[in-house]
Amino acid sequence: MKRILTGIKPTGSPHIGNYLGAIRPALALADLPDTEALYFIADYHALTTVHDGAALAHLTREVAATWLAFGLDPEKTLFYRQSDVPEIFELSWILACFTSKGWMNKMHAYKARVADAGADADAADAGINVGIYTYPVLMAADILLFDTDLVPVGKDQVQHVEIARDMAQRINHVYKAELLRLPAAKIDEQTAVVTGLDGRKMSKSYDNTIPLFSSAKKLRKTVNQIVTDSTPPEAPKDPDTSHIFTLHKLFASAGEVAAMRERYASGIGWGDAKGALADKLEELLAGPRAKYDELMANPAQLDALLARGAERARAYAAPVIARLRAATGIRVKP
Ligand code: TRP
Repeated sequence: MKRILTGIKPTGSPHIGNYLGAIRPALALADLPDTEALYFIADYHALTTVHDGAALAHLTREVAATWLAFGLDPEKTLFYRQSDVPEIFELSWILACFTSKGWMNKMHAYKARVADAGADADAADAGINVGIYTYPVLMAADILLFDTDLVPVGKDQVQHVEIARDMAQRINHVYKAELLRLPAAKIDEQTAVVTGLDGRKMSKSYDNTIPLFSSAKKLRKTVNQIVTDSTPPEAPKDPDTSHIFTLHKLFASAGEVAAMRERYASGIGWGDAKGALADKLEELLAGPRAKYDELMANPAQLDALLARGAERARAYAAPVIARLRAATGIRVKP
């Protein structure tokens, strides 16, 4: 039995790039035989940048409801909110005491923030909170607390998984025992790059996303904002250079894709191409949207579901943290 774990940072409303890049592949992984999945909302990681309480609470529920709406089964997959598992913080401190500051200085995400601050080292020190600096320690605690084997992540997160492995190795070495399991990153090479409305990578920071759950009408309006050129409707078009087709392909069956290619070749107006994409998206999203709306209408029930997940997660964490307390000499019975 392999244990896989990943965290989802609730920093923005989920869009179709998140669905294709993270949600769909993670749900498929959770369904593999001999696999146990733990998926959680990393709200304390989001707190490094989201400093509006109501917004963070709302984003956390939005993200949770999204995964459930697309079929995450909370009976099968342990699904919880990071902040509901206090053992993560206990482990985070223990790990921090075995992590050299030099390791943290070398982390790409942190270095990028320093680079953004330019030549002024004092400005970087003032503008980057310690939560951002020690972000990888908390993430390592997320992973190591559950004897995780595999961590499905995007390329930008691989370094974080590697450092978690280094921390585990160091602790095992110092106490001469297999206290922590060594995790490995799992990068899904198949994962599609999803283009946004303007043809760049779909990302909240470019403001070019198609949200997963707006109304059917709003969804159509957003699709209509995809940037196109002024080729006349009847002119034959190369589907492979069209953002509309690129998106359509990610959702449609092989047969539908072939039919769509022919329509492009014989001349399709951009308006019709967008209409066909909107139809396809609506077909995929109508069901999950209804489920999502139902979950969001009942926040107390959603919180209770997450709390039950956390309870189960804490049962998994208990022996791991007990091993560490005993080895480190913290709260050892006489
Ligand atoms: N850092 C991850 C991201 O930005 C989120 C995350 C937090 C995570 N804890 C984790 C991912 C543990 C995998 C495992 O997307």
